Amino acid sequence: MDRPTEASPAVVHDPEAFRAACDRARAGGRRVALVPTMGALHEGHLALMNEARRRVGPGGLVAVSVFVNPTQFGPAEDFSRYPRELDADVARCASVGVDLVFAPSAASMYPAGDQTRVRVGALAAPMCGVTRPVHFEGVATIVTRLFALAGPCVAVFGRKDFQQLRVIARLARDLFLPVEVVGLPTVREADGLALSSRNRYLSPADRARATAIPAALRAARALYAQGERGTMALLDVVSRGLAGSVDGVDYIELRDADELSIPGTPLPDDARAVLAVAVKIGATRLIDNTVLGEPDVTLD
Ligand code: PAF
Repeated sequence: MDRPTEASPAVVHDPEAFRAACDRARAGGRRVALVPTMGALHEGHLALMNEARRRVGPGGLVAVSVFVNPTQFGPAEDFSRYPRELDADVARCASVGVDLVFAPSAASMYPAGDQTRVRVGALAAPMCGVTRPVHFEGVATIVTRLFALAGPCVAVFGRKDFQQLRVIARLARDLFLPVEVVGLPTVREADGLALSSRNRYLSPADRARATAIPAALRAARALYAQGERGTMALLDVVSRGLAGSVDGVDYIELRDADELSIPGTPLPDDARAVLAVAVKIGATRLIDNTVLGEPDVTLD
């Protein structure tokens, strides 16, 4: 276990050492919170860590995993160029009082002979599941492994990856895992762009165009607030808001916020419907969403 300074979290690379550290904490009466990440940490991740601390209290153990998980990337995706900067990530974790960082190798998380995958059904099929067919199986598999090692009572994720959050909450429920899966509101730049480790791929001109994404979601929220309940009209305002600013649209979807099924139109007044987009700006794929029918402190 490396522990560079008193204020820095301990850093472990070996899965069994991570398990042992979490076991020791629980044996000592500490609650364990886990924040799974792929690193390249930003303010959005730090908000997850702060929430993890709030949930387990000052005496709890807040663990952050930093692992660019190969199984959730398709062959043509950005696995090899995904930013890896462990020292800076550990410093960011230290800045919010994280206790333990788990940074395993791919070989240790997927050892030779590994043949088990976790697959969630209908929730993983639409939206990102269409253009990224292996993605959620990879996410579900690595998150299940991380839960098995850490045994956390709570795990904190961002709502920007809305479908991912639904998939993880469902796997925890279906597998009877004793972990509370918590989703936190998206953290945004001042101009509304959702924070993402992939924003750093954007050139300044592409970064400027990306503000069309939150603007389009805001326009739909405004239309909804004026009483529009027709799903086509709500989708159309997003589509028009993005046109001319993005280079490709993977999807613009309106779905029931719990089951991700397609809601009837007009939306009933008690509907909670997630309006979600995945677009390309240059070569960069960005996602964002808002839930109509509930307040969105980040967009309203
Ligand atoms: O959201 C992410 O960063 C990843 O998908 C996760 C949950 C850490 C699994 O690799």
